[in-house]
Amino acid sequence: MPIFIPFHEHADSRGNLVPIESKRDVPFSIERVYYIWGVPQEERRGGHAHKTLEQVLICLSGSVTILLDDGFTREEIQLNNPCKGLLINRPTWREMYSFAPGTVLLALVSEPYNENDYIRDYKEFSQWIKQGCDR
Ligand code: TYD
Repeated sequence: MPIFIPFHEHADSRGNLVPIESKRDVPFSIERVYYIWGVPQEERRGGHAHKTLEQVLICLSGSVTILLDDGFTREEIQLNNPCKGLLINRPTWREMYSFAPGTVLLALVSEPYNENDYIRDYKEFSQWIKQGCDR
């Protein structure tokens, strides 16, 4: 189920660089970027799905567990590589937890922030999936 995007890393004796361009390295136009850090190890984030937006999650530093649930199956993924993005481009309930100290999680998003695009109740998400994701 998870779709990973391997980014091209430019590595030399000075260190590493990964460029990311809209519609080239990610399959959508990047309209928003946000990042999460300083998450205590016992805290959970996410706990929602989106109706339309797509995003790519990249763990720039540290490591984090991502739970993906498409309404039928659940999967846990460990993100810990800044050269690898996790593409979430279809209806998916997601949760993030077990942030290692120093973790920075970057999100590249296809839409501006819009609370109406969120489904924050798992039951509602599950029913929406079973009804064929009416928008
Ligand atoms: P929240 O949705 O709780 O974060 P997450 O689900 O990823 O753990 O967002 C925390 C706060 O930040 C909330 O008040 C909404 C706000 N926010 C924005 O204003 N813009 C954004 O792009 C995002 C992702 C959140």
